[in-house]
Amino acid sequence: MIRTIGIIGLGQMGSGIAYACIDAGYKVIAVDVKNDMVQKGVSYVHKMIEKGQRKGRISEEKKVEMIGLLRTGVELVEVSKADLIIEAVTEDMELKSRTFRELESICSENAILASNTSSLSITSLASGLKEVSRMIGLHFFNPVPVMRLVEVIKTMETSTEVAKNTMDFIKSIGKTPILVRDQAGFLVNFLLTPYLFDAMRALSNGLASVEEIDNGMKLGCGYPMGPLALADLIGLDMLYKAGNILFEEYRESRFAVPPILKKLVQFGQTGVKSGRGFYDYSDSDKPDARNLI
Ligand code: 3HC
Repeated sequence: MIRTIGIIGLGQMGSGIAYACIDAGYKVIAVDVKNDMVQKGVSYVHKMIEKGQRKGRISEEKKVEMIGLLRTGVELVEVSKADLIIEAVTEDMELKSRTFRELESICSENAILASNTSSLSITSLASGLKEVSRMIGLHFFNPVPVMRLVEVIKTMETSTEVAKNTMDFIKSIGKTPILVRDQAGFLVNFLLTPYLFDAMRALSNGLASVEEIDNGMKLGCGYPMGPLALADLIGLDMLYKAGNILFEEYRESRFAVPPILKKLVQFGQTGVKSGRGFYDYSDSDKPDARNLI
C-alpha cells in the first residue's frame, strides 16, 4: 500500500511531483542536498496552492491539509520510511546510480524505487542494485501540475506487482499512465526529441525565424506551444543531454544534437530557467524571440 512518497531533488520536476502528490492527499517527504533548492521547491508548491485557491479549486481547509502533508529536508535518510521513492535529481547516470544505491541501503525492503529520468536507461540504474525487481521508471512531463501523462517504464526484471501498484498510484493522483518498455527516450521523448531538433535545424538553415517556426506549428497544427518555446520550457541543457544519450543508443542522425543547441548550452542559455534560450525572458509575461542566426 502506497501512503508516503519520498521525492529526491526539488528542481522543477521534483517540485511539481510533490505538488501533485499532496494535492491527491499523499504524505510527501521531499529532499534536496541544496537548501536553496528546498526553499525554491516549497515556494513553488505554495504558489501552486495559492493559485488553486484563487481558482476556487482549493479551500482554506484543503490548503492547510496540503501544507501539512509536505515535509522537506536535506538528508537522503529522511525518506527511509517512504513506500514509493521518486528520484528527480540532475540527469547524470553516476549521480542517479549512487543515489539509488544509497536509497537501497536505507529504505524498507518493500519500498518501490522510481526514477523520473527522461532519457537514461532504467535497466542501467537498476543494475547496481541488489533487488532489481522493485525498480521502475516514472517519467512525468513539464509542467507537472498541468500535464496528465506519466510514462511508467518497466524493465524486464520489474515485478508485475510493482508495475501494477505504480500504475494505480499514478491513476490515484489524477494522471494517465502508459506502460512503456525500457528503451532510450522511452516513447514520448523518442518521438518528441527529433521534432524539436528539426525545428532547431530549420532555424539554423534559415528556413524561418524563431517566431515563424513556433507560429507555424502552433497555428498550423494546433500545438499548444511552438517547438522552440517548448525546448526553452523543457530546458536546453536537458535536451542536450537527452540528444546525446539517444544518439549514442540509436546512432541515427535525427537524434544528433544541432550545433545551435550546443552553442546555447555552452553559453549557459538553457531556456526559461536561465532567462534566455531561443527567447529572451527578461519580461516573463512577454518572451521576446531572439535573432540567433
Ligand atoms: N507550472 C504550473 N502550472 C502552469 C505552468 C507551470 N510552469 N505553466 C502554465 N501553467 C498552468 C497555468 O497556470 C494555467 O492553469 P489554469 O488553467 O488553472 O489557469 C494552465 O497551465 C494554462 O496556462 P496558460 O493559460 O498560462 O498558458 P497555455 O494555455 O499556453 O498553457 C502550457 C501553458 C500548459 C504549458 C501549454 O502551453 C502546454 O501544454 N504546452 C506544452 C507542454 C508540453 O508539451 N510539455 C511536455 C514537455 S516534454 C517533457 O516534459 C518530457 C521531458 O522529459 C523533456
